[in-house]
Amino acid sequence: MASSVWRKKPMSAFEADMKKSQLKRVLGKWSLTAIGVGAIIGGGIFVLTGTGAYYHAGPALALSFVIAGIACVFAALCYSEFAAILPVEGSAYAYAYGTIGELLAWIIGWGLVLEYAMGSMTVAVSWSGYFNKLLKMFHIVLPEWLTSDPASYTGTGFSMNLPAFLIVLLVVSLLVRGTKGAAKANNFIVVLKVSAVLFVIIAGLFFINTANWSPFIPEVKQVAHEGVKHSAYGITGIISGAAAIFFAYVGFDAVSTQAGEAINPKKDVPFAIVASLLICTILYILVSLVLTGMMNYQDFDPKGAYPDAIKAPVAYAFDIAGQKWAGYIITIAATVGLISVLMVMIMGQSRIFLGMAKDGLIPKVFAEINPVSGTPKRNLYILGVVIATVAAFTPINKLADMTSFGTLFAFLMVCIAVWVLRVKQPDLPRTFKVPALPVIAVLGILINIYLMWNLSIDAQLLSLSWLALGIIIYFLYSRRKSNLNHYNLDASITHHDEELNEE
Ligand code: ALA
Repeated sequence: MASSVWRKKPMSAFEADMKKSQLKRVLGKWSLTAIGVGAIIGGGIFVLTGTGAYYHAGPALALSFVIAGIACVFAALCYSEFAAILPVEGSAYAYAYGTIGELLAWIIGWGLVLEYAMGSMTVAVSWSGYFNKLLKMFHIVLPEWLTSDPASYTGTGFSMNLPAFLIVLLVVSLLVRGTKGAAKANNFIVVLKVSAVLFVIIAGLFFINTANWSPFIPEVKQVAHEGVKHSAYGITGIISGAAAIFFAYVGFDAVSTQAGEAINPKKDVPFAIVASLLICTILYILVSLVLTGMMNYQDFDPKGAYPDAIKAPVAYAFDIAGQKWAGYIITIAATVGLISVLMVMIMGQSRIFLGMAKDGLIPKVFAEINPVSGTPKRNLYILGVVIATVAAFTPINKLADMTSFGTLFAFLMVCIAVWVLRVKQPDLPRTFKVPALPVIAVLGILINIYLMWNLSIDAQLLSLSWLALGIIIYFLYSRRKSNLNHYNLDASITHHDEELNEE
C-alpha cells in the first residue's frame, strides 16, 4: 500500500478520458491566446511597478520584468510540451499524475487552488477597489460597510465587500452558459485592455525624462520595507524585483487548463501559452521603462513628496505630469480588464477540479458536465459561492503572495515532470518539444525555487500549511477514492506501450 502514493495514471487512461470527454471543443488558436492574455494582464502591472522600482530595482525594473519573463518562458515551454502530449483539462496536476505519481499530483492540484481559487478571490477584491474608484469618478460613494470585509471594516455592525461578491457571481453566470460565449466576452475585454496598455505606453513616451534612467542600475542600498530592512538595487535588487512583480505574470498557464476545449489542442495550446506570454512580456517591459522614465524611482518613497504614488504608480506618474485623464483610462481598463482575469481563473479552477474529480480524488459532483451548455455547471456554482463568500467576508487580499507561491510551485513541478517523462518515455510522440532539455528544465527549477524563496515568509508558511492540509486530506479521503484503486495498471501500461510502438 505504501507504494501506492507513487502510482501513476497511465497514458491509456488519459486517452480514454479524452475520448469520453463531454466538454465542447470550441476554442481556436487566437481564442486560446486571448485566454492567456486575459489571465495575465490585470491589476499587477498597474500596481506592483512602484514597489518593484522603489524597493528593489530602480529604473532597472524593466530588467526585473525580463527575468520574471524568462522564468515564465522556461515554465511555459515545459507546459507546452506537456500540453502537446496530454491535452487534458487538469494542467500541472494531470501532467504530474502521468509522470511523478499520485501523491505529488494531488499536492500540485491542491496547490493550484492557491493559484486559481485564491487568485480569483484576491482579483475579486482588487476589482472591487477599482470599481469603487470608478464610481467615485462619477461622484458615487458606496458606504464602507458595503465595500469592506468585516476584519478591515473600521465601523461597527455588519459589513461585507458587496462588489467583490457580486462580480464573482456575475462571472460564474457567464461561464455556466458555455465556453464559446465566455471566450467571446474574453476576446472583447482583451482587445480593450491591450489597447489601454498600448495607449499608456504611447502617451507616456511624451513625458519621459531620460535623466530619470540614470543611473539605470543604482548602487546597492539598504531600504526598509514594512519595517524590515533589506538591500535594494544593484543586480540583487533586479532579481528580488523579479519576485516582487511576479504576480503580474500569473495566469499564462491557465491556457493549459482549457486544453479539453481546444479544437486542435496539441498544436494550439503550446502556441497560445508561448504567444500570450511573449505579448505580455513585451508590454510589461515597455510599461516599466515608460514609468521609470516619467517618474524618478526615488519619488515612489511612501515617506516622500508623493506618499500615495506607490499604491497606483502608473496613474500617479500621469497625474504628476498633469495628465489626469490617464488615471481615468487606467481605472476603466483595470476595472474591465480584471473581469477577464477573474473569468479565466475561475474557469481554470473548475477545469482542474473537473480533472481531479474524474480521477476520483475529489467528489464526483465536480466532474458532472451539463449536456446543454457543455460546462461543469455544478462545479462552477460551488466554486462561485465559495469564492464570492471568502472574497466578501475575509481580508483575503493580504494573502496575495500565496497565489504566487502556488503558481511557482506548479511551475517547479512541471519543469521536473517534463524532464522525468523525457527520460522515462523518450519515444512518446511529441508535437512540441522543449529545446535544450535538461538545461531549460534545470534553469526553470532553479529560478522558480529562487523566486519562491524571495516571497514573504508569511506567504511561504501559510502556503506550506495549505499543502500540509492537502496531504492529510489525501490520506484520509483521496487515496481511498482514487480510480486507480480499480485500475489494472500493469495491463494498461503494457497495452499503451504496445499502442505507442505501433505508431
Ligand atoms: N497577472 C494577473 C494580474 O496581474 C493575475 O492581475
